[in-house]
Amino acid sequence: MENIDYLIRGGIVVNSNFEKQADVAIQGEKIVAVTEPNTIKNAKEIIDASGCYVLPGAIDTHTHFEEPFQGCVPNEDWGAGTRAACIGGTTFVFNFVIQSKNLSLTEDIANHKARASALSYIDFNFHGVFTNLKDMESNLKEIEGIIDGGVSSFKEFMIYTEEGLAVDDWNLMLIMKEITKRGGILGVHAENCSIGENLTKAIAASGKIDAKYWPLAKPNFVEAEAVNRAFMIAEYTNSNIYIVHTSTHEAVDLIGKYKYGNNFFLETCPHYLTFTKDKYLDEDGKYQVISPPLRDKEDLEELWKGLANGRVSFIGSDHNAYGKESKDPGYAESGFMGVANGQPGVFEIITVVYNEGVRKNRIDMSRLVEITSTNAAKIFGIFPKKGIIAPGSDADIVIFDPNKKETLGFKWYEQADTSFYEGMEVVGFPKMTIVKGTVVAKEGKIIQKEPNGKFVPSTVRANMYQGIS
Ligand code: URP
Ligand code: ZN
Ligand code: ZN
Repeated sequence: MENIDYLIRGGIVVNSNFEKQADVAIQGEKIVAVTEPNTIKNAKEIIDASGCYVLPGAIDTHTHFEEPFQGCVPNEDWGAGTRAACIGGTTFVFNFVIQSKNLSLTEDIANHKARASALSYIDFNFHGVFTNLKDMESNLKEIEGIIDGGVSSFKEFMIYTEEGLAVDDWNLMLIMKEITKRGGILGVHAENCSIGENLTKAIAASGKIDAKYWPLAKPNFVEAEAVNRAFMIAEYTNSNIYIVHTSTHEAVDLIGKYKYGNNFFLETCPHYLTFTKDKYLDEDGKYQVISPPLRDKEDLEELWKGLANGRVSFIGSDHNAYGKESKDPGYAESGFMGVANGQPGVFEIITVVYNEGVRKNRIDMSRLVEITSTNAAKIFGIFPKKGIIAPGSDADIVIFDPNKKETLGFKWYEQADTSFYEGMEVVGFPKMTIVKGTVVAKEGKIIQKEPNGKFVPSTVRANMYQGIS
């Protein structure tokens, strides 16, 4: 084989269906061979991966770069966010586009595409969120064009009345039916609106506004009831659906009743797999106010079991880099009611799933690859371009050193000042990240100075969701 740009030699290549000693050859932006060790002798550059895993880069299914939410604007732009992503081994994101006032969702997606195309270090796609809920007819008309334009996934909120985001059951049904008819999938933020919002207000009104009371405002029931309802509506309409940022053991139990792995899926986040609500007792608990809240050990363990047995299919970080300066004044005034929900997380996916999942014997390496990369690529229509180490696929690759000791925290981000993971010691950390055949990050630092991220259209069409576990 000639004209190989990079040969990754001596590592253990992991895909969702195997883990074996192999070498990987890269030409331009593509992988051109995955061979028995030492079969290819020559390349412009040899990368020594001995003692390391060679993994498909993580696909983060849930980021909020440059997205205002609850009156807060993240400090971080696409450039800073995706540089952190690269260092941590995340090589693709699906970012939310929450429709801005006075813009159609199509126009808003075009704006985000322009920003990301100019600044992102990794390839990307979007999930569209309709917020003009008063004109559902025009929303429904827009769906076909958005999907034809390459964005095939959407999200709607079942809660957040004051923010103007909460969609009622009728409109939820209309949206999911239309998206499915056009071959897309709807993600649902599942929390019971009336009970979730009124309970939150009642708890705050009783004076319990400290972060430690946040889980009481949105108990498991609030998520579970909405998940059940969303699933029932989706089953009635034979729609494609997934639940975003799943946090409860009840949701994992509920999906067992449906055709999960075909057109029903659960996404969860690394923080629900790592921490319990005890985190709210910490000094920096106020920064961990997110929706849904961190839960109990039972929930954490059932989410892991679901990831192991196929009921939970993929992982998104729910990355939101709101700074302290935006959270502290609101918290000082009105406790958890005054904190914009969200925390950074795009950087930690592979490291945390490795440490909490593989090192604790909850999953093996192939399943790590499946839930951090392959399943997302399949469900959101970018497979096999992404999500696998195979000839013809983009060379989005992480060389992961399972013995490297590191400490996590916001220092890994350029423009974040809080982290769920502050001070967490890990064993296992990315050594190098290659994005489309270019070494972008090495030993914890960015070495590629120019962004080269591009929009990758989703090719999902009806009946493509089959047999994903
Ligand atoms: O707390 C959260 N999850 N904030 C981000 C918005 C959302 O619901 O994804
Ligand atoms: Zn959400
Ligand atoms: Zn989110």
